[in-house]
Amino acid sequence: MKTQWWKNAVGYQIYPRSFKDTNADGIGDLRGIIEKLDYIQDLGVDCVWICPFYRSPMDDNGYDVSDFYDVDPLFGTLDDAKELIAKAHQKGIRIILDLVLNHTSDEHPWFMESRSSLDNPKRDWYIWQKPRQDEKGKRIPPTNWASFFEGSCWNYDETSGEYYLKIFSDKMPDLNWANPDLRKEMYAMSRWWLDLGVDGFRVDAVAHLSKDTSFTDSEMKLNHDGVAPDWSKFSNRPELFEYLHEFHDEVLKHYDCLSVGEVGGGANVKAATRYAGYHAKAFNMVFNFDHCWKNGAFGSEDKTDDELTVNVLDLKETMDRWIQGMKGKGWIPHYWLNHDHPRVMSQYGNPRKFHRASGCMLGTVLLTLPGTPFIYNGEEIGMTNVDYTDINDFNDVWVKNYYEKAIKRQSPEQILTHLRRTSRDNARTPMQWDDSASAGFTTGKPHQKPVGNYKEINVKQQSEDPSSILNAYKHLIRLRKHGHLHSVLVNGDFKLISPKNKDLFVFERKKDDVTVLVVANFRAHEIRYKLPYLPKAIHYDNYGLAEITKEIVLLPYQALVLEK
Ligand code: GLC
Ligand code: CA
Repeated sequence: MKTQWWKNAVGYQIYPRSFKDTNADGIGDLRGIIEKLDYIQDLGVDCVWICPFYRSPMDDNGYDVSDFYDVDPLFGTLDDAKELIAKAHQKGIRIILDLVLNHTSDEHPWFMESRSSLDNPKRDWYIWQKPRQDEKGKRIPPTNWASFFEGSCWNYDETSGEYYLKIFSDKMPDLNWANPDLRKEMYAMSRWWLDLGVDGFRVDAVAHLSKDTSFTDSEMKLNHDGVAPDWSKFSNRPELFEYLHEFHDEVLKHYDCLSVGEVGGGANVKAATRYAGYHAKAFNMVFNFDHCWKNGAFGSEDKTDDELTVNVLDLKETMDRWIQGMKGKGWIPHYWLNHDHPRVMSQYGNPRKFHRASGCMLGTVLLTLPGTPFIYNGEEIGMTNVDYTDINDFNDVWVKNYYEKAIKRQSPEQILTHLRRTSRDNARTPMQWDDSASAGFTTGKPHQKPVGNYKEINVKQQSEDPSSILNAYKHLIRLRKHGHLHSVLVNGDFKLISPKNKDLFVFERKKDDVTVLVVANFRAHEIRYKLPYLPKAIHYDNYGLAEITKEIVLLPYQALVLEK
C-alpha cells in the first residue's frame, strides 16, 4: 500500500566519504554511518539519503559506477549495506539510495564491451558519433556542445575511431536511454535494491536521460573553451518523460518508496509538474536549483566576503514561485545545499560574526517551509566553506578541469578565492564530530583536509550547548514532526508577508484554525519590524527572549516561529 510517508519526513543527506571513518583509512564508510545512527535518530530526522557507495573508480567520488550491484570496498561490503538498512529500520529511519541512471564509469563492463568494436551488441548502450573535420581537415567532435565539467561533452575513442558522449567527466560516458534493453537492465537494477530493503531513490542527473539526437551544433555563443554551454541539448527533453512513465510502471509503482529526482538544466515549475505532478505517474518530488547562488558568489573574486550580500528579495520570490506554482499540483522538497554546493553558512549565513545566530536562522526557515525538508550533513552544526590556500587541497574532478583552463586567464589567488566560494569541495570536507585530530572523523589521514575551524565548530561542543545550532535543528525538527504544529508546517498554505522587505524573510503558514508566523532576519544588523499581530505563543526564538511586542527590533539574524 502507498502511505506517502515521505510527506511527513525530514530528510538528511550523507556524503559517505566524509561522514565517519571506522577503519582508519581516512575515508568514511558504511560502518561509520551505522555507528552514527544514534546521532541521526537523536537529531530527529527519519529519512537518510546516502550519496553513491557502489563500486567505482572514484573519478567523480562514486557517481562513476562500475558495478551497480556491489558496494565499493572503500565504503565496505554489501553485508554492511544490508546491516545499515536493517539497523536504520529498527530505529524508524528510512534509507534512500542515490540512483545513477544517466551514465556509468568508463570502467563499467558494459562500456568496455561497448567501446571494443563498432558491432558489439552493447555498442548502442552508449552514445557514439563519428568525428567531423574542420576546414583544415583536422578531426573535431560531432557537435560544439559543452560538458558540465568543462570542455567538450565528447571524448574521442582511439579503438573505434568515434566519439562517445559524456556530459560530465571523460570517465563518465552517458548511457543511451533510447535503447530498450538498456532501460530494462536499469529497471531490474533499481528493483534489486528496493527488494534488498532500501526505501527509495534520489535519482541523479535525471533531467539528462534523453538528448537531442539530431546532433547538430548549438547556435549559442561559444565560451572561452570554444564550446557552447547549451544544456537544452540534453536536458528536460520530451522522450525523457516517456522513460519516466516506464520507470514508474516497471519499478516505482510496485513499492511504498520515495522517488526524488534531481533536475538541473533549467527545469522550470511547469516542467516540475511533469516530473513530479500528483498525476504525472513519474516521481514524488524533484529538487530544483533556483534558490541557490543568491549571494552573487560567481564572478565575485575581487570582492571581500563582507561585500557579498544575499539578495533576499530574489531568494524569497524564487521560493514563493515554486511553492505557489506547485500548490495543489505536486509535492516539493526544500534544501539549502547538497554535496554539489558551497556551505549555506558561508553563502547565506555569517560564519565570522554571527555563526550561531545565522545557522539557527537558516534552520528555522528550512524547517518551517511546506513540503519535505532535507538537511545536508554538517549543516546542523553550521559547517563552513573551506579555508584552503593550496590548490592541491582541492579534490573534485571539476576543480581540476577548471583550474587547468582558468589559470590562462586568472591569477592563482583569484582562482582560489573563486573555489573557496563556489567549489563542490566546500561541502565535502570531513564531518566535524569533535575537537580531536581530524575533527574526530578518522584516526588515520583524512582523504581531504578538514576545515580549520573544527576545534570551535563540532558536534560534541554543540551537543553540550543548549543554544547551539545543533539543538536548534533538533528543536525545530521536533516542532515540525510532533505536536500541534505538525500538520500546519507540513501541509499548511504558505504566504509571504512583507514580500517587498529586502532584509527579512517573513511568511505565514496556515491550516484550519492554526496560523504560524515565521520571521527571519538575513542581515548582520538590527532591523525594526512591525508584526501583523501580537502572537499568542513563541515556539522558537534563536535569541531565547521571553517576550515579543508588536513593534520589534530584530537582532542580527534573529529568527522567530510564532503562533497567531
Ligand atoms: C549530479 C550529482 C553530482 C554528480 C553528477 C554526475 O549532479 O549530484 O555530484 O557529479 O550528477 O553524476
Ligand atoms: Ca574507512
